[in-house]
Amino acid sequence: MSFIGALIYDKSMAGSEEACLRDWRKVLLGQVTGAVLEIGAGTGANIEFYPTAGVNLVLSEPDKNMRKKLQERLSQSGRTRVSIVTGSAESIDAPDESFDYVVSALVCCSVVNLEGVLVEIKRVLKPGGRLVFLEHVAASEGSKRRRWQNRINPLWRLVAGNCHLNRETEAALVATGFTIESIQRESMRKAMPIVRPTIRGMAINSVLGSALGSE
Ligand SMILES: C[S@@+](CC[C@H](N)C(=O)[O-])C[C@H]1O[C@@H](n2cnc3c(N)ncnc32)[C@H](O)[C@@H]1O
Repeated sequence: MSFIGALIYDKSMAGSEEACLRDWRKVLLGQVTGAVLEIGAGTGANIEFYPTAGVNLVLSEPDKNMRKKLQERLSQSGRTRVSIVTGSAESIDAPDESFDYVVSALVCCSVVNLEGVLVEIKRVLKPGGRLVFLEHVAASEGSKRRRWQNRINPLWRLVAGNCHLNRETEAALVATGFTIESIQRESMRKAMPIVRPTIRGMAINSVLGSALGSE
């Protein structure tokens, strides 16, 4: 993310945050407990929604411009038991099975290697641990919106920090061996039509899924 991108990020998301994202974040993150890692924490939009008790939080953000904003928002929050680390989700600097929850909000669209990231998340999650996801995704195959997503994607990636409009994140979760525990599909209000389709919910790092996935 460029300096300008980080500077205008919160403003560019403000309409959707107010219309729906804040409500979605509140419900999803109110459920986490224990050791929690958030990947691509950005400017810290999730910070205020984590429970204040019973959570040891690691916020990971590879981009230095976003990380500066993250640090500022964390300081303002007055929260304790939170650390900020650098690094990409393709290579998480943590031992195997170290987190109860991993959180990914509007990040799977931007990573270089989605499947690699999901495998890495499974590695650091405890067996039975959960991935909390809130992602904008590809519209239905064959739909007019999907055709527009496919057309605009190459340019969009260039101007929006490698954000892909047409990622099939749910299918990637299943292919990696996650068990989808809950999922809601809803339109991100006040967003451009090509980024409106979203999924949100929880995916379990099921032991059975891991065994099948490694065959
Ligand atoms: C659209 S922003 C979302 C920020 C925040 N999660 C939110 O909900 O507002 C995407 C974030 O993912 C980060 N990101 C991009 N590629 C990444 C990667 N490979 N690993 C981890 N984070 C990445 C970006 O730096 C950016 O902060």
